[in-house]
Amino acid sequence: MPDGGKVGATSFSSVRVYPGREGCQIPFFTQAASFEAAWPQILQHLNEVADNGKYSHGRKVAELESALARWTGARHVIGVNSGTDALVLLLRACGLRAGDEVIVPAFSFIASASAVVLAGGRPVFADIDPVSYGIDQAAAAAAVTARTAMIMPVHLFCQLADVRGVLDVAARHGLAVVEDSAEAIGMRWDGVHAGLLGRGGVLSFFPTKTLGAIGDAGAVITDSADIARAVSALRHHGRSGPTLGDFGAISNPTVFPGMNSKMDEIQAAVLLAKLDRLDADIKRRSEIADFYTDRLGGIGGILRTPALAARPVPVNPVWYVYLIETDCRDRLAEYLAARGIGTETYYPRALHLQPCFARLGYRRGDFPVAEAACERTLALPLYPDLSLADAAAVCDEITRFYRGGRG
Ligand SMILES: Cc1ncc(COP(=O)(O)O)c(C=O)c1O
Repeated sequence: MPDGGKVGATSFSSVRVYPGREGCQIPFFTQAASFEAAWPQILQHLNEVADNGKYSHGRKVAELESALARWTGARHVIGVNSGTDALVLLLRACGLRAGDEVIVPAFSFIASASAVVLAGGRPVFADIDPVSYGIDQAAAAAAVTARTAMIMPVHLFCQLADVRGVLDVAARHGLAVVEDSAEAIGMRWDGVHAGLLGRGGVLSFFPTKTLGAIGDAGAVITDSADIARAVSALRHHGRSGPTLGDFGAISNPTVFPGMNSKMDEIQAAVLLAKLDRLDADIKRRSEIADFYTDRLGGIGGILRTPALAARPVPVNPVWYVYLIETDCRDRLAEYLAARGIGTETYYPRALHLQPCFARLGYRRGDFPVAEAACERTLALPLYPDLSLADAAAVCDEITRFYRGGRG
């Protein structure tokens, strides 16, 4: 490292998370300016890592876990290397056994269901509620069998799934609720943070997330000391005993086969600096989302902008992703791309139609609401670096698309 072992200044002007899209004048996502603003604090944390000399599973991870516990209100936060591993470890720590069924919404990121398989279970899919895009309570209830062990509500985009409804179903059938709250940092149901409504949840710090690292990272959050202990051991080869900051703990007995899912100190350093700005970032995201809703709400052809007001639940939105629905999604995405505006499709294929789950025997048509969402939804650029002038340009192009009769 330059400067006597210290990390020096740098420029983030060329940082692009999606390098194939440098040509975009308004990329779907960038955090170049956010990184630049946070860089002095990031440097300070990185220099402490360098001074401390523990580059994996050290003090910065512990510091981040405490800071996140304060921010979310969780009794326990266990930092790991990704949201995906967080899900696998959480399911294992909650006692999932080989062949147990976990009910998962058919509309989500692939990791919600693949984590169930990786933890030894079998995903059983259920359709979603068209407003929240979360699992439908009645569909979840109908999917319960004698082998069901858990239900996994997934909170997508900007709002929570109906967790209370899912908790009712789970209570009736004696099931555990494990939340895929990877996208839901900052979202609370009646004041309780996502991930803490059932037995535990996860956070993803993938760079595009509301709290994004400079690589992969994630966490398990829970109020249960038993689950926290099990996840702590599982992330570190299943070793017993307190192991944070202690790489020498190779002598600790291995109580069950675990993984190497530890969080990197560099990610913890970056996340600590960015956590200080999270409230401001969430506010900024909300300003942009309100701007979009205001400008796009009246455009015929857009079937819907996020329909939060329709939800009679005490949930605060946090705008991770801004999604519109339209019958001509792909044409609109191509039109915007040709004009230098990046968009994204979350998620183009329902989970029950993913080739890796073909052996489960589902067919097209099994979950019509999830399938329609896959065909119609389009995510617009939304991140703290986006100016309202850029958001206005996005709205202007969308307006032109529909006015020109292309929709
Ligand atoms: C709903 C959902 N579940 C799980 C994950 C997995 O998180 P990660 O990408 O950090 O492994 C993500 C993030 O991409 C997600 O959005």
